[in-house]
Amino acid sequence: MSFPVESIREQFPALQRQINDRPVCHFDGPAGSQIPKQVASAMSDYLLNTNSNRSAPFIVSQESDERVDAGHSALADFLGTTDTGEIVFGQNMTSLTFALSRAIGKTWQSGDEIIVSQLDHDANVSPWVQAAKDAGIVVHHIPVNLEDYTLDQIAYRKLLSKRTKLVAVGYASNATGTVNPVKEMIAAAHEVGAITFIDAVHMAPHRRIDVTDLDCDFLCCSAYKFFGPHIGIMYGKRKLLESLPVYKLRPSPNSLPGRWMSGTQSHESICGAAAAVDYLANLGKTISSGTADRTSQINVAMQAISQHEIKLSKHFLNRLAELDALKLWGINDPNRWEERVPTFSFTHDSLSPQELARQLGEHGLLTWPGNHYAIPFTEAAGLEPEGTLRVGFLHYNTLEEVDRLVDSFQELL
Ligand SMILES: Cc1ncc(COP(=O)(O)O)c(C=O)c1O
Repeated sequence: MSFPVESIREQFPALQRQINDRPVCHFDGPAGSQIPKQVASAMSDYLLNTNSNRSAPFIVSQESDERVDAGHSALADFLGTTDTGEIVFGQNMTSLTFALSRAIGKTWQSGDEIIVSQLDHDANVSPWVQAAKDAGIVVHHIPVNLEDYTLDQIAYRKLLSKRTKLVAVGYASNATGTVNPVKEMIAAAHEVGAITFIDAVHMAPHRRIDVTDLDCDFLCCSAYKFFGPHIGIMYGKRKLLESLPVYKLRPSPNSLPGRWMSGTQSHESICGAAAAVDYLANLGKTISSGTADRTSQINVAMQAISQHEIKLSKHFLNRLAELDALKLWGINDPNRWEERVPTFSFTHDSLSPQELARQLGEHGLLTWPGNHYAIPFTEAAGLEPEGTLRVGFLHYNTLEEVDRLVDSFQELL
């Protein structure tokens, strides 16, 4: 079956909008995706019908608890664990990572070391750097290879030692689109006994994530990047979630996942995140005409999404060859699609990213200027203070939209 992009788009009201009499093109997915109707309906249904705090001995609270539990179950399927206690919800990836870094940081001692990377969003750098500073330990940074925008794997292996307590690395870069070989990096970290933390925020809307296959100790993502609401999700191995010295209130549960979910959660957002997973599963079901279980449906959907995105990327890069005024900061080798997601960063000699984004925005083409908080990369590449113009495709983008973007670039430049 061909990819049903038109019926997908019908489910996203935001994609029907016009700006200056032209249909909007959302190329701002790396900053946040649009959401399908069923996600908004799940959230309003929770708020209108089962809105309650947890664990009271009356029916509305019990129904609310059931919906929250279903959220853990959906995200467990999405991330590839069968243990729903390993799924923690929180305000966003950044807050969850700060909470985890404070807890893990308490276990570090003088002489310990940690490793972060130059290709990461700062949310996977600063929380660790600050916890390391508090504990008085050393932080290493895996350098980015500026010839092909990959992390230097040789340098990484040299940084690993018995002193390494943590490796924190991104699955995919939100600036260059590079996909890091995290499975191999996790295995190497485990050989020296280090804990691994994967930032999968940028990867989640593009490819299947399977924490069991990766064998990571922790992994975070954010539902607002994969067609859900503003809420963060953290997977952690049960043993570590149970044993690490988390900062928590006395009356809050010591069992999982409550041990890590401090304060009252956004139950409606948990329902929305579950609905986003079900939206993807439903797409997989449609494409495969009836695959039965949710995990297999998500597999099918993510496979199809990735193929569609490769098609968009190939078309985009082929047409961009017509334009030599833009410099692409990322992999452009058509034989290396597996190593990137469809996120493209550009600079132009005279027009700033801010100016390019402003002019494209007037044509209804929504792109993003700046450093995208991927500041270790923009600093290493000499791209501060203006950063890049970032164009990101998601599965609801079309070849026609890509053509409109390249045509507009041609007009502007
Ligand atoms: C790769 C990456 N990591 C982390 C974050 C931070 O996520 P959150 O906004 O959920 O804190 C972002 C947000 O853009 C991101 O793109």
